[in-house]
Amino acid sequence: MPGAIHAEGLVKTFGEVKALDGVDLDVPEGTVMGLLGPNGAGKTTTVRVLTTLLQPDRGKALVAGIDVLRHPNEVRRSIGLSGQFAAVDEYLTGRENLRMVGQLYQLSARDAKRRAADLLERFGLTEAADRPAKTYSGGMRRRLDLAAALVVSPPVMFMDEPTTGLDPRNRQLLWDVIQELVRGGTTLLLTTQYLEEADRLADTICVVDHGRVIARGTADQLKARTGGERVEVVVHDPARIAAAREVLLGFGKGEVAIEEHTRRLTVPVAGGARLLAEVIRELDGQGVEIDDIGLRRPTLDDVFIALTGHAAEQAAAAKNKNDGGDGGDGGSGGGSSGAKDARDARDDDGTDRKEASV
Ligand SMILES: Nc1ncnc2c1ncn2[C@@H]1O[C@H](COP(=O)(O)OP(=O)(O)O)[C@@H](O)[C@H]1O
Ligand SMILES: [Mg+2]
Repeated sequence: MPGAIHAEGLVKTFGEVKALDGVDLDVPEGTVMGLLGPNGAGKTTTVRVLTTLLQPDRGKALVAGIDVLRHPNEVRRSIGLSGQFAAVDEYLTGRENLRMVGQLYQLSARDAKRRAADLLERFGLTEAADRPAKTYSGGMRRRLDLAAALVVSPPVMFMDEPTTGLDPRNRQLLWDVIQELVRGGTTLLLTTQYLEEADRLADTICVVDHGRVIARGTADQLKARTGGERVEVVVHDPARIAAAREVLLGFGKGEVAIEEHTRRLTVPVAGGARLLAEVIRELDGQGVEIDDIGLRRPTLDDVFIALTGHAAEQAAAAKNKNDGGDGGDGGSGGGSSGAKDARDARDDDGTDRKEASV
């Protein structure tokens, strides 16, 4: 049986750009799926198709069991959406915006009023509640947009990068709200550029790149695939980077990523604090002076390097290269040489760009 959100073979092309290149998704009822990927991966396009805002060129989708292409109006009644395209009326106050949404969803005037006050309070907007939304800062608008999506708890929710642009306190607040929503039975698809966020909220994660799902699984499965924890070292002397790399290779379970300009080396490891102590001793023994060392959990970049052989911020540049495009992206230079090493290794075993079942 298909899940509460189900997509098969979604394709969407904008001119030369293949925004979606055969996306399959299935989100079981009452669970959270994180769609994780860098800028331009196709996250928003996926959400727009699933929320009936955009027609795919090919493929099909069911939301709450309803065909998105054939019965868009029915789908709209079953979903909530927040994100880059959700509408906040500039001229209404925050409170009026929320009350209007409540009434659109057929709450009584009294319930709509109560719900609005409650959400304004939760999102720290009570003081600004009676000012027009156009006077709000970016962060406040973001919170109002999220509050609007939460006025009613629809059976299926979509959130497109809900925490982008939020400060840590508000991000935490939103995470709490999302967890509460899901406990209430809502099925949620959220997009994010942060592994940490998908990790916190999602039951399953789909990693997308270039309009394709390149891996899916739980956060733990993805992290295991990326080699789990990292040792990260900043060496004092750039001339000692090569020596430090040799040491790390001896302890690591994969490629050593090197960022020359920050003198930072990173390697996936198995083993915690004791291993760290051994690395320090060995570096010391080899006369490599360090400015900083630590253990950290894998980031989206680590996932990307492991899966695609390129760092997330290089995705646009790599795409241009792969597609033989004319390279419209001027801001993607300065990648790490470690990522390049990983890419070369990946090309050798021919596993690049195939979906990984983790
Ligand atoms: N309306 C559009 N017209 C032209 N290109 C678009 C349009 N929407 C998205 N794209 C392109 O499709 C690709 C995927 O975009 P998007 O789904 O917004 O990615 P994400 O949300 O993951 O950052 C990008 O290359 C983007 O530039
Ligand atoms: Mg987007």
